[in-house]
Amino acid sequence: MVPVLQGKRVVLGVTGSIAVYKAVALASTLYQAGAIVEVIMTEAATRFVAPLSFQAIIHRPVHTSMWNLLAETEIGHVTLGRLADVLVVAPATADILTRLALGLADDFLTTTALACTAPMIIAPAMETHMYQHPAIQGHLGVLKSRGVYVVGPEAGHLASGATGLGRLAAEERIVDTIRLALGRGGNLARRGVVVTAGGTQEPLDPVRYIGNRSSGKMGVAVAEAARDHGAQVTLIYGAMAQPQTTGVRLVSAPTAQTMHAAVMEALPQAHALVMAAAVADFQPAIQADQKIKKKADTIGLTVELIRTPDILAAAGSCKPVGCVIVGFAAETENLIANARQKLEQKGADLIVANPVPATFGTDESDAAFVGKEGEAKSQGRISKVELAERIVNWIALELLQNEN
Ligand code: CTP
Repeated sequence: MVPVLQGKRVVLGVTGSIAVYKAVALASTLYQAGAIVEVIMTEAATRFVAPLSFQAIIHRPVHTSMWNLLAETEIGHVTLGRLADVLVVAPATADILTRLALGLADDFLTTTALACTAPMIIAPAMETHMYQHPAIQGHLGVLKSRGVYVVGPEAGHLASGATGLGRLAAEERIVDTIRLALGRGGNLARRGVVVTAGGTQEPLDPVRYIGNRSSGKMGVAVAEAARDHGAQVTLIYGAMAQPQTTGVRLVSAPTAQTMHAAVMEALPQAHALVMAAAVADFQPAIQADQKIKKKADTIGLTVELIRTPDILAAAGSCKPVGCVIVGFAAETENLIANARQKLEQKGADLIVANPVPATFGTDESDAAFVGKEGEAKSQGRISKVELAERIVNWIALELLQNEN
């Protein structure tokens, strides 16, 4: 379950593109994430995939015609437009883009779009030259100027056999944009949240480093949850693949030094800082310019290590007024006692105490919240996504209390 999607009515408009089959998978993902999915198919879309495919997945009838609804007491398109929490058109053809931009209302999807006051997301999919045509670019510009979110298209293999721009955006990007749109006006709206994620790598020479096994999943989950609550999020990520997340400002910081600099730069504008990164405590005193070579008689190597900056402690000592700071404690023993010590020593407002290495790289956590009142509140074994949601809700409440 994705909390921001749970119980939300997502109206999915499907139009006549070869990419319609991907919309079936999208509908399934949204349904499994807890959304109420309503599908509207244009007549052209039904030529590619039968409505039954969607119906079987979303467990409700698919809307294909305005005229079927005349028997109902309520006007279908107006009702759906009013009930929608978000309207997503994926895949969106050149034709639907044009009709939406012009405000035409000649079928169930376009009439619903006109009657809908919820945020709208469009994921175009078409042949490259069609997409690049000034007419389509003009219509996209009009839609964007009205606040419509446009996701993709992406470059890659197209149905025509050519390679180019025009593929439907990846499902994760569309879902992320839906989450972003649903989160607008959430309990962290207009708040700046800085999150760090992943481990750092401290170079020994141009090819070797000292690092740790953090996957970065926890930090990315916190950044996404904060985004889902309407925050303006800066995600400072360590030595890990660039997170594929939408609506979050990304800053790469692969070493403790670069992460320290990035956090210090972002902190003055932040209402909250979440230090989920596993920052290396030591770095080699000397970083060799060239690869360190062994000789025939080398029997060992001694590397001198020096302390890295403690970023959390540095942030705690100069935090902006009203800013909330959350740290983590990764412990193999004495979890709560060590977490309490870190809370005090580093000037944090909350420490999320984590037994390691059990949760490294997994999707689950077994954490406890250790707050200023000193109490440890076990969160039980829950997913990192759920833990992130609880951390973000804790921050929102804390910020509210700081204000009053
Ligand atoms: N942290 C930090 N800078 C460091 C080391 C840690 O900001 N150089 C932060 C981590 O992001 C985390 C918290 O401090 O939020 C605690 O990290 P942890 O690794 O549990 O503890 P350490 O402070 O490194 O102490 P120790 O290794 O002795 O347990």
